[in-house]
Amino acid sequence: MGAIGYYNGKIGALESMTVPMLDRANYFGDGCYEACLVQNGKAFALREHLERFERSLSLLEIEPPCNRDELRAVLDRCVEASNESSAVLYWQCSRGTADRKHGFPAPSVRPNLCVMVTPKSIPPFDGTMRLMTTEDNRFSMCHVKTLNLLPNVLANQHAASRGLDGAIFVRNGVVTEGTHSNVSILKGGVLYTHPLDEHILAGVTRKRLLALCDRLGIRVCEESFLKNALYDADEVLITSSTMHIRSAVEIDGTAVGGGAKELLCRLQSAYRTEFSKETK
Ligand code: PDD
Repeated sequence: MGAIGYYNGKIGALESMTVPMLDRANYFGDGCYEACLVQNGKAFALREHLERFERSLSLLEIEPPCNRDELRAVLDRCVEASNESSAVLYWQCSRGTADRKHGFPAPSVRPNLCVMVTPKSIPPFDGTMRLMTTEDNRFSMCHVKTLNLLPNVLANQHAASRGLDGAIFVRNGVVTEGTHSNVSILKGGVLYTHPLDEHILAGVTRKRLLALCDRLGIRVCEESFLKNALYDADEVLITSSTMHIRSAVEIDGTAVGGGAKELLCRLQSAYRTEFSKETK
């Protein structure tokens, strides 16, 4: 059937769906979201996404719109309705619909649940990216998968206007993450990645990458690294649910990576196997 939209119980073709102007997502971005890939009707790593969604809601002090099983059922229903062999499954929850006041609405105001399923072919598992670095000017709630993505949108656009695939945020000289991805490097057979704190999103793909490293006997150091380490790395890895594990081939006009191709291939291939197995 194609792209599907869902809003508080109503489901239909995505382009036919509308949301109320007074949804707090509309004027405050007051909510959080999740996005993952679907293949053969199965959402990859759904449990991890549902867990993170609950964490985001709790950090934003938003009441869950329903329990986990009910949410799973809604998501399944949307995926089934779209009847696509592969797609992006996106869902968000806002604090509710109410007059524009900064204070939380009355407890009787229920959160709004919105879901979109958009057809998308599964991208290759060995993609490469040309990137730039940019100052991380975001707030200190980057561990929440908030709807407020303005700095990410701007940085991404600045990269796109230079013909690049995205940007990497750098905070006080330290690499934090990408505009919609996590960033890790391989150096001397060790994988380095920013520790989980309020400056990065706890990426589901990052978590899978670390587990794969563990399985393949690659040492992991959850330690932050400086911008210069990107140019010096054997490989720079960019991870996200919609991009899998990609490698950067250029950053700020400098060729990067290519020094640990075999290790990179093993990780990408193990991730592909995991993805195929779980979406069979
Ligand atoms: N974004 N960091 C940021 C800021 C992100 O927006 C994302 C993903 C990630 C990677 O997280 P994960 O591996 O769980 O997808 C890290 C999604 C894909 C998006 O906004 O579309």
